[in-house]
Amino acid sequence: KIIILDFGSQYTQLIARRVRELNVYCEIYPYNNIPEFADDVKGVIFSGSPYSVRQEDAPQIDLAKFHLKYPVLAVCYGAQYIAQHSGGDVQPSSTREYGRANLSFVNQENKLFKGINIESQVWMSHGDTITQIPDNFELIASTESVRVAAYHVKDSDTYAIQFHPEVTHSIDGKVLLENFLVDICGCSQDWTSAAFVETTIADLQAQIGDDKVVLALSGGVDSSVAAVLLHKAIGKNLHCIFVDNGLLRKNEYESVLEQYKDFGLNIKGVDAKDRFLGELAGVEDPETKRKIIGRVFIEVFDDEAHQIQDVKWLAQGTIYPDVIESVSVKGPSATIKSHHNVGGLPDFMKLKVVEPLKSLFKDEVRRVGTTLGLESFILGRHPFPGPGLGIRIIGDVTPEKVAILQDADQIYINNLKEAGLYDKIWQAGAIFLPVRSVGVMGDERTYENVIALRAVESLDGMTADWCHLPYDVLAKISNEIINKVKGINRVVYDISSKPPATIEWE
Ligand code: XMP
Repeated sequence: KIIILDFGSQYTQLIARRVRELNVYCEIYPYNNIPEFADDVKGVIFSGSPYSVRQEDAPQIDLAKFHLKYPVLAVCYGAQYIAQHSGGDVQPSSTREYGRANLSFVNQENKLFKGINIESQVWMSHGDTITQIPDNFELIASTESVRVAAYHVKDSDTYAIQFHPEVTHSIDGKVLLENFLVDICGCSQDWTSAAFVETTIADLQAQIGDDKVVLALSGGVDSSVAAVLLHKAIGKNLHCIFVDNGLLRKNEYESVLEQYKDFGLNIKGVDAKDRFLGELAGVEDPETKRKIIGRVFIEVFDDEAHQIQDVKWLAQGTIYPDVIESVSVKGPSATIKSHHNVGGLPDFMKLKVVEPLKSLFKDEVRRVGTTLGLESFILGRHPFPGPGLGIRIIGDVTPEKVAILQDADQIYINNLKEAGLYDKIWQAGAIFLPVRSVGVMGDERTYENVIALRAVESLDGMTADWCHLPYDVLAKISNEIINKVKGINRVVYDISSKPPATIEWE
């Protein structure tokens, strides 16, 4: 495998994804928390950083641990760091260099640049520039404005580049990474989803043996893929629990349960609608609602898990970004909203935790799902928050409001599917606003609530932009909702991006 040392760059995860797209397994570690390397480490990549190497508090590492011991590819900050600590010089650029540039010199004889032509477009993003390299460094690429765009430390497998090969704007970035991984590190490009499935099943069998495992299914991609993988490994010893909290989309409970049963999963559906809606009655504050939904979920799940004899394990659909987030260079970010994830395991359950997807990115989870034969019905779904419609009804939640929102949301989503837009949108949903306004239907005056429509484009939910949906599709959705859903006489479209707004309204 390849180790990526993170110096806090916004692109670190992208490096990992590119490496994995080349079918090489890699892991990210913060520069200040590096584990002992096992024998299977084939090379190390240094990321960029928001810091300048000239800053006093800039990230520091012990280069002797890597240089000459492993092949090293240093990107941006990494490149400047090695240059500065080996007798070279780094100075602020006279002009800040962001965006596209073209190579003006390339040493194609050098292994790293095999097959990469002069003129190839690269992506720069840096405020400092390497002004001088020591004698034992060999210049291997330049652009018009950056002389040291890449160098190689002679007689070693240490290479460094000022530009970012991981972003798609660096046209030959993937070729360069492949040269590093295959020709320089000797990686064998055999890390595919089929290989992942095969080794994970064997590992799960060895880890779990004949023990029983309980897993909470949510209908989402991660828990579904985790369940199917475990099911292949341990069969009926996997006990799945699917809770209806009364805040799911219309008919979601029934249709998802049906799909899972078709898959042969050992699954128990629990109708806890009344319990959730009862506890939520009269509660208006968003954070309080989130906490109630999280707490009741754990209570219901715990009751059910206790009915299974001798359960030893709790399985979770944790994925790699959750893991990296919790150990990142920057530390956990401030709590904007308290996320309800199935993870809130009560201490008294004393179960061991198994997380078969914790090394995968979201798109890899989807690919594994496809390899396992999961339907696009489950794999292609938009993300849906744990607290469900409970946080898409502003203010207090009642069964009547849930029913109205379910109907409006169903019309919205069905229309997006009919228009061929659903798969192009990252996430969409309707929101119930308890704001009454006047309307007219036939000769009657109405005084009813508002439905807001939200649709966003995003990569990971951290930032998002509102989708520019076609007016005719919006018009049809609005008409249908107002005509068919009693209690709604006005539809609005949310045109806020994140930040400063969030995707969900509560
Ligand atoms: P926000 O509203 O924070 O949402 O911009 C970002 C993404 O996270 C989802 N979300 C949740 N997911 N439990 C979840 O599992 C939660 O409590 C939760 N709250 C928000 C949201 O749907 C969006 O995809």
